[in-house]
Amino acid sequence: MTYRIAVIPGDGTGPEVVAEGLKVLKAVAGPANLSFDFVHYDLGGERYLRTGEILPDSVLHELRQFHAIYLGAIGHPDVPPGILEKGILLRLRFELDQYINLRPVVLYPGVETPLKDKTPEDINFVVVRENTEGLYAGAGGVLKYGTPDEVAVQESINTRKGVDRCLKYAFELAQKRRKKLTLVGKTNVLTYAFGLWYRAFEEMAPAYPDVTTDYAHVDATCMWFVKNPEWFDVIVTDNMFGDIITDLGAIIQGGMGVAAGGNINPEGVSMFEPIGGSAPKYTGKKVVNPIAAIAAAQMMLETLGEAKAAAAVEAGIRKTVTMMKSMAAGQMGYNTEEVGDLVAQHAAAAL
Ligand code: IPM
Ligand code: MN
Repeated sequence: MTYRIAVIPGDGTGPEVVAEGLKVLKAVAGPANLSFDFVHYDLGGERYLRTGEILPDSVLHELRQFHAIYLGAIGHPDVPPGILEKGILLRLRFELDQYINLRPVVLYPGVETPLKDKTPEDINFVVVRENTEGLYAGAGGVLKYGTPDEVAVQESINTRKGVDRCLKYAFELAQKRRKKLTLVGKTNVLTYAFGLWYRAFEEMAPAYPDVTTDYAHVDATCMWFVKNPEWFDVIVTDNMFGDIITDLGAIIQGGMGVAAGGNINPEGVSMFEPIGGSAPKYTGKKVVNPIAAIAAAQMMLETLGEAKAAAAVEAGIRKTVTMMKSMAAGQMGYNTEEVGDLVAQHAAAAL
């Protein structure tokens, strides 16, 4: 099988870490009997500053034709916040209807967590973040901008269809794991939005009798992530809360250098990315950790149905992290390329 993959290295350290992910994909391709046709797109801050283009419609049209998209990072220090994030990353998520943002929180053996007394047995869960609605939908507006009477309204959009398809994905994922699903919300205050989520959750649960369901408020969830992360298996939540709790998830699994995510349209084109951002201060120094980007490539293989190749990449990651001094940029005991070499070597050997 030949997979056509669109590669968007993007801004900052994105290109450095994407190069290592591609290295690992190439290393497993032969032994796993598959091949890749990578097509690079220079979307990001540099192109915007040079040409004024953010995401041309023609590029969006081309991106729809790929098996998957592999993304580095979007965000540039010389571009005001929001332009690239909304114009590229969020637009891709919305236009390609990638309604699931899947974010595993896994502590690999040998990786340091800031949580005292917690081990890899305790930190192994997945957040299913709704990825096309909520506060991210862009509903609202501003009146009397820049005056003392300014009014800013930002509304959370929650549709029954959007909530149901996200819950369905989460229930099915829970069935494949430890069969526990926690809805995270704020039913005690956001009674309209999470009233809908809660009812939809309760109504869907009987169709999955083998899945144990649970509910937690988002503020309490932040506390449990630190105190009792072992309670969680699959978490499902809205876009904004999912954004916030997955940064907390990332730090308990060893930091932004490790955390990967998939923007998934189960019926369409999905996009995989390290969740850490463009890290401008490390750009070009070859000190950032490519493990998150490589783990994103692993998720891409899984979603494409290449379980064997994905397992080999995971084995490569697991072996490599035990050899690294730290997951933090500049403290790994290796540079970015050397970490990529190690994973590539160990992943290929696992096939
Ligand atoms: C993420 C990021 C994005 C988000 C930003 C860059 C728009 O924080 O992928 O979590 O908020 O979704
Ligand atoms: Mn985020």
